[in-house]
Amino acid sequence: MNETASLRARAEIDLAALRANVRILRERAAGAQLMAVVKSDGYGHGAVPCARAAREAGATWLGTATPQEAFALRAAGIDGRIMCWLWTPGGPWREAIEAGIDVSVSGMWALREVVAAAEAAGLPARVQLKADTGLGRNGCQPADWPELVTEALAAERSGHLRITGLWSHFACADEPGHPSIAAQLDVYRTMVAYAEKEGVEPEVRHIANSPATLTVPASHFDLVRTGIAMYGISPAPELGTPADFGLRPVMTLAASVALVKDAPAGHGVSYGHHYTTTAGTTLGLVPVGYADGVPRHASGRGPVLIGGKVRTVAGRVAMDQFVVDLHGDRPEEGAEAVLFGPGDRGEPTAQDWAEAADTIAYEIVTRIGARVPRVYAHETADPADRTRTAGLVEAAGALGAGGGVER
Ligand SMILES: Cc1ncc(COP(=O)(O)O)c(C=O)c1O
Repeated sequence: MNETASLRARAEIDLAALRANVRILRERAAGAQLMAVVKSDGYGHGAVPCARAAREAGATWLGTATPQEAFALRAAGIDGRIMCWLWTPGGPWREAIEAGIDVSVSGMWALREVVAAAEAAGLPARVQLKADTGLGRNGCQPADWPELVTEALAAERSGHLRITGLWSHFACADEPGHPSIAAQLDVYRTMVAYAEKEGVEPEVRHIANSPATLTVPASHFDLVRTGIAMYGISPAPELGTPADFGLRPVMTLAASVALVKDAPAGHGVSYGHHYTTTAGTTLGLVPVGYADGVPRHASGRGPVLIGGKVRTVAGRVAMDQFVVDLHGDRPEEGAEAVLFGPGDRGEPTAQDWAEAADTIAYEIVTRIGARVPRVYAHETADPADRTRTAGLVEAAGALGAGGGVER
């Protein structure tokens, strides 16, 4: 048994799959640049290795929610364009400016803070103005847009910032044909046109997330921001599996079976005894639980592949472990239990767990806890990958992707 296999649990991250997914998405959005969204530790896959792999596959931008996530990328030596969009008053604007990170501004309070920070730093901020085109979450409402644009342009003229982007986010792109998609695109075009008429010259205009990248070509503009699809998970499962979109899941979550034992008929299993054996049987102990991100809501329903058969969680998922009824089979302790992966070995997928837990696969992968080591496969791109990517990066350069960061 190798060292990796002997781990209690591990999330294997296939960086070759991630690179291939990025290339597929780049092809789907030909003519646009690609922002690899690596917020929340790369949706649980590890932000830094995923960011590096995405860059190798031609992602010219990286996107994070918090400024701290963006700083962690810089601290790991990752240069080039990085944008972060979730700010609160008193945030580390100056550090972001000094690190050459694009910041998002949705309202006047943020504009005032970024201008003050730029003055203090003696450097212009790279600011992307965010429009609320209908999501009703972050972003500037159309009615407040003229004031934000006017004030941002004034700050640009006085050298405090450069308006690098005009952007927005969809509410229902995972429901193709939803009327809000066309409506948001209309509002977005109107808000961009207004800003450009007033004199804004953005480097990038962008609204598309993964589902829009895959299903709404009219939304691609200059840049697409892909998260979930890059990790090989279908953003719209009712429309297609990852394979239908040419994508391959990047994460495999596996554990080593900790105990196999006989149990008589009528034996209650796990907290609350929500499962009772119906006959003399064998029980297998899988040493991961809700503290590792296995959803407790999937108690009695979550699937796991052990010894070539898909079993179901018996009873409650506990903090650190759950039990499966092996119905007489006796895999050895240390045998691999695969909770989810690409699915081609017969193992369940993250989507299967999402369905078992009444949630979305985004939440399944993102919640895998820090206690589970990430084990990276294919950390180095093979030479054929590099050649293919060089073409993509050149194409992005021709589109004005820019090279190093302006500090
Ligand atoms: C602002 C923004 N853009 C892009 C994304 C990426 O979305 P997806 O994972 O669906 O590609 C997210 C993720 O929720 C986001 O918050």
